[in-house]
Amino acid sequence: MKGIILAGGLGSRLKPLTCITNKHLLPIYNKPMIYYPIEKLVQAGIKDILIVSGGTFAGDFLMLLGNGKEFGLKHINYTYQEGQGGIAEALGLAEHFSEGEKVAVILGDNIIENDITPYVNKFKKQDKGAKIFLKKVEHPGRFGVPRFKDKKIVSIDEKPNNPKSQYAVTGLYMYDPEVFNIVKTLKPSARGELEITDVNNRYIKDGTMSYEILKGFWSDAGTFESLYKSNELIRKKLIKEKKLKIK
Ligand code: DAU
Repeated sequence: MKGIILAGGLGSRLKPLTCITNKHLLPIYNKPMIYYPIEKLVQAGIKDILIVSGGTFAGDFLMLLGNGKEFGLKHINYTYQEGQGGIAEALGLAEHFSEGEKVAVILGDNIIENDITPYVNKFKKQDKGAKIFLKKVEHPGRFGVPRFKDKKIVSIDEKPNNPKSQYAVTGLYMYDPEVFNIVKTLKPSARGELEITDVNNRYIKDGTMSYEILKGFWSDAGTFESLYKSNELIRKKLIKEKKLKIK
């Protein structure tokens, strides 16, 4: 299985922080944001990784990460998304890289606490289709939100005003190679983006979507509040693991 980190987009919600750097290079406590999804993939044994970046400061990823020596990698693949045509558009840019393999995709602003290895192993055994990961949140309306019937997801609403469950669809996704054909059929949403939720709804319609409830903490870091919360979560985790000297 290959790994894809989507770190395109313009980070508009974090202006002025993102006026002079890419959102994914901002600090989450003691590391740049992009370190966290890279570490998750490497920990799960996924060493063939593509980073999709974008915007004015995309070159800074190369300066920071190089060939990924710090993560025990020999090489990192990079590609560039022009503009911010959406998460699914960014994913579509990875088709050449996937070479017909299954892919694990992480949004570059997602902070996941637990090791994802068990999920990766489970998806390797899944015959076809996709897998998404849910987390109970206080304000689901700012995420993709699943609707359930008899514990089965029947559809996902993107940022609904009236959420039909308490769960957010997190930015960890696993797909079979069919995903790149699905992306090609998408039409831009009302906000002018190719939506990952439309991709996921296609798998749900086809009956090939599985899901898990993510264990451990999870947060995105794309708003001031969630960026602040992510910093706190990592700080608390480091203190708990005695990896942080406060004095
Ligand atoms: O964090 C999980 C949520 O991420 C999901 O619940 C939503 O269904 C999904 O649409 C997404 O919502 P956001 O509105 O929070 O996504 P955002 O536009 O902030 O983009 C998240 C990451 O995706 C961003 O850090 C980089 C990548 N991205 C985004 C866009 C719009 C790209 O690579 N290219 C893009 O054009």
